[in-house]
Amino acid sequence: MNKSIMITGANSGVGKETARQLGMLDGTEKIYLACRNKDKALEAKTDLEKQTGKQIFEIIIMDISNLTSVRQTVNSLKNPIDALIMNAGGGGTDPMALTKDGVTEIFAANVLGHALLLEELIKSNKLVKTALYVGSEASRGIPKMKMKLPPLKSSSVEEFETIINGTFFNDKKVDGMIVYGQVKYVGEMWLAAMARKHSGIKMLSISPGSTQGTRTADAFSPVFRFFYNNLLMPFIFPMMGLSHKLETGARRLVDGITNPSYKNGAFYGSKENVLVGPVIDQSTIFPDLKNEVYQDNAYEAVRRYIG
Ligand SMILES: NC(=O)c1ccc[n+]([C@@H]2O[C@H](COP(=O)([O-])OP(=O)(O)OC[C@H]3O[C@@H](n4cnc5c(N)ncnc54)[C@H](OP(=O)(O)O)[C@@H]3O)[C@@H](O)[C@H]2O)c1
Repeated sequence: MNKSIMITGANSGVGKETARQLGMLDGTEKIYLACRNKDKALEAKTDLEKQTGKQIFEIIIMDISNLTSVRQTVNSLKNPIDALIMNAGGGGTDPMALTKDGVTEIFAANVLGHALLLEELIKSNKLVKTALYVGSEASRGIPKMKMKLPPLKSSSVEEFETIINGTFFNDKKVDGMIVYGQVKYVGEMWLAAMARKHSGIKMLSISPGSTQGTRTADAFSPVFRFFYNNLLMPFIFPMMGLSHKLETGARRLVDGITNPSYKNGAFYGSKENVLVGPVIDQSTIFPDLKNEVYQDNAYEAVRRYIG
C-alpha cells in the first residue's frame, strides 16, 4: 500500500487523473502534486478535493526542467514518500531549444529532471518503495502510424548524448514524434539501469497508451488541433485501436505502482499494432530495451548532464 505518492505534472491530463484515482483508494494519505505553475496547481487541487471528497492533496511547486528547482524540492520534503510517478513532460512547445544545462527542452522535461529527482530522493532516503517512469510506445516505433524504430547505430554513451543535446537530429528534418520517441527511449533505458543499481526500490516504466483528454495536441496548428481533439482522438482512433479514455490511460499508472506482478526495470506498453488494451513487456517488441549494455550507456550519458 502506498500511503504517500508524488506525481510530477499532476495539474492536467494523465497526471491529474492518476492523482484522482489514487486519491479514491483506501489507505492513500497524501498525494503531492508536483507542478510548475501555482495557479494551475491550485485549480487542480481544488478540483481533485471536490471529486474525491478528500483533503489529501498537497502542492509542490517544481519546474522539472530546472535542476535547481528539483534539488530544492527534495531538500524541502519533510517526510519520505512511498511512490514517485515521473509523469511530467510530453512534446512541449519549443522542444529543440537548449536549456542552460545543454540539453533540449524536451529532454529536460521528460528525463533529466526526473533523473536528478529520483537520484536525490534515493540519496536522502526519501523514497521508500516504487519509482514509475511514464514512457511511450513512440520509443519502440508504432508501425500503424508509420513511426520507425529508433534509428540508432551503436547505442554508445556518445550516441545517447547526441539525443540528449539534440545534435542527433542536426542533419535530419526534425520529426517531432521521432524526437519525442528517442527522448522517451533514453528515459526508459536510464530507468532500467537504475532498477539494477538500486534493488531495494521497485522501478519500472509504463506508457499510458494513446490517451484522450490530454494536451498532446497543444503544439499542433489550431485547425489540426481541433480535428485531432474533436474527431480523431474520440471517434476515429478508438475504432483503429489507437486511443482510449483518460481514465483508462491513468489506470495503467495506478496499476504500475500497485500491481506486484510487473517486473523490476521493465517497460510496459501496448501490444505491437495498437496503442490501447492490456500492457506487455515492450522488449518483446524491441529487444534493445533489455540490452543491459545499452541501458548502462544511456544511464552514463544522462549522468554526464546531472553533474
Ligand atoms: N497522452 C498520451 O497519449 C500519452 C501517450 C504516451 C505517453 N504520454 C506521457 O504521459 C505523460 C503525461 O502527459 P499528458 O498526455 O497527460 O499531457 P499533458 O496534459 O500535456 O500533461 C503534461 C503535464 O506535464 C507538466 N509539465 C510539462 N513540463 C513540465 C515542467 N518542466 N515542470 C513541471 N511540469 C511540467 C505540464 O504542466 P503545465 O500545465 O504547466 O504545462 C502538465 O501538467 C507525459 O510524460 C507524456 O509524454 C502521454
